[in-house]
Amino acid sequence: MRLPLPLPRWIAHRGGGSLAPENTLAGIRLAARLGYRAVEFDVMLSADGTPFLIHDETLERTTSGQGRVCATPDDVLLALDAGDGEHIPTLAAAAALCRQYGLLANVEIKPAAGYERQTAEVVARQCVALWQGAAILPLISSFSMVALAIARDLAPAIPRGLLFDAVPADWHRQLQSVGGVTLHCNARQFGGEVLAEAATKGVPVLCYTVNSLAESEKLLANGVSAVFTDRLDLFAGACAIEDASR
Ligand code: G3P
Ligand code: MG
Repeated sequence: MRLPLPLPRWIAHRGGGSLAPENTLAGIRLAARLGYRAVEFDVMLSADGTPFLIHDETLERTTSGQGRVCATPDDVLLALDAGDGEHIPTLAAAAALCRQYGLLANVEIKPAAGYERQTAEVVARQCVALWQGAAILPLISSFSMVALAIARDLAPAIPRGLLFDAVPADWHRQLQSVGGVTLHCNARQFGGEVLAEAATKGVPVLCYTVNSLAESEKLLANGVSAVFTDRLDLFAGACAIEDASR
């Protein structure tokens, strides 16, 4: 399995980072406007089983709503304010926007506890349908091995990345078991031995969340392939230069 395109070095985190409401269409638009070629967002199911872009299992931090996302029906979710008058987008709306802008979408399957299977099944099937015939396929990632195994079975042509906070010694075995192609990890929770092994095995390493130029430069110089950032402003110039050099 191949990656969908040369991996951009900078990836807008949670839709559009911290300069727009997270996991919203406004955030994705901002990322595209600032020159980003890739955007990561989190996907969770509503009570109706519809995939929406949201990070937390509960609504309070990022929206005007209350309670659990997985217990809230679509009509209620769609009416909430996700910041600055934005709505919580569906995966379908985000996919359409990414395709329109030519963005690589890193779709993070973020299941509510106990909903790993159901979430992965819906998201994998929708990814296949929503990116049908697309020049740039999404990259599906998850902390959940169960979710990635389902994505492998239901959407085998869509590349997968395995997410870790601290990277375990057997990360490559786990990645292989779900047919993954990329390793996604916390920028402050892995060492040189992981990068060396990844380089030997030809696995790109993607690090979250990097919000300083110095940290980004160091990671990229050490062999990290891409960083996720909330600070879209910091890397906009670098994105434009990278784009021009392609
Ligand atoms: O996918 C990278 C990163 O988004 C994982 O952490 O909690 O921001 O979803 P989190
Ligand atoms: Mg995420």
